[in-house]
Amino acid sequence: MILGDTILETRGLTKQFKGFTAVNGVNLRVCRGSIHALIGPNGAGKTTCFNLLTRFLVPSAGRIVFNGIDITHERPAQIARRGIIRSFQISAVFPHLTALQNVRVGLQRSLGTAYHFWKSERTLAELNDRAMDLLTQVGLTDFADVPTVELAYGRKRALEIATTLAMEPELMLLDEPTQGMGHEDVDRVTALIKKVSNGRTILMVEHNMNVIAGISDTITVLQRGEVLAEGSYADVSKNPLVAEAYMGSADAALTGAHA
Ligand SMILES: Nc1ncnc2c1ncn2[C@@H]1O[C@H](COP(=O)(O)OP(=O)(O)O)[C@@H](O)[C@H]1O
Ligand SMILES: [Mg+2]
Repeated sequence: MILGDTILETRGLTKQFKGFTAVNGVNLRVCRGSIHALIGPNGAGKTTCFNLLTRFLVPSAGRIVFNGIDITHERPAQIARRGIIRSFQISAVFPHLTALQNVRVGLQRSLGTAYHFWKSERTLAELNDRAMDLLTQVGLTDFADVPTVELAYGRKRALEIATTLAMEPELMLLDEPTQGMGHEDVDRVTALIKKVSNGRTILMVEHNMNVIAGISDTITVLQRGEVLAEGSYADVSKNPLVAEAYMGSADAALTGAHA
């Protein structure tokens, strides 16, 4: 795959919590069109990085540049409008709405809250078509009218991806998309991520090394808030520093994976 220019860059990104440095001078460069994985042992600072990128947390130091624009000081809503969208946990999907209704909520959110717009029947019909299209993209065509609460776990995560797609992300942030899944769901969601990466950029935190080996173009390994290594799976998996970082941690050994 030919990768594009830099879509997202962090320079010296740092976050301190009362003197404890959770993210320490991280320089990240994400290529447009790539699937970029952020990995590292528990406590390495992965989630904090995500929270900084979406400005859920305010950086202590450093800069975040998206499409050449410094977004370090922007608010979360502005960042979302620019196209950096994080896939939220299942809890953010309304359990008693159907799959279709949940995607529609996502579409409405992305179009703004102007109420009058929604009065027209035609607009609502268009919205339904678009929502159906997104459900089809994630393989949930047959589940459109099923209340979300009744969907199997893997399908809920697929729905989450559909609601994220509704926001028209240019850069999609996925925080452990296969967490807690059985084999089949992992394979299905991995294929789905690969599919939706077409025309987008994906930055994901993921623990499953098979998933990472299978679909990542670039991997950044964090350890204690700092970048320990970066490169392709082949490069990173034979880096002795990386193996050492995972030693004695509860995470899956990096070298045990196969694509
Ligand atoms: N709000 C917070 N206050 C204090 N410490 C925090 C806070 N959030 C995260 N940390 C600490 O920062 C470190 C990195 O956490 P986190 O980013 O969640 O790691 P990861 O996602 O890689 O497991 C951990 O030691 C964690 O305890
Ligand atoms: Mg985390």
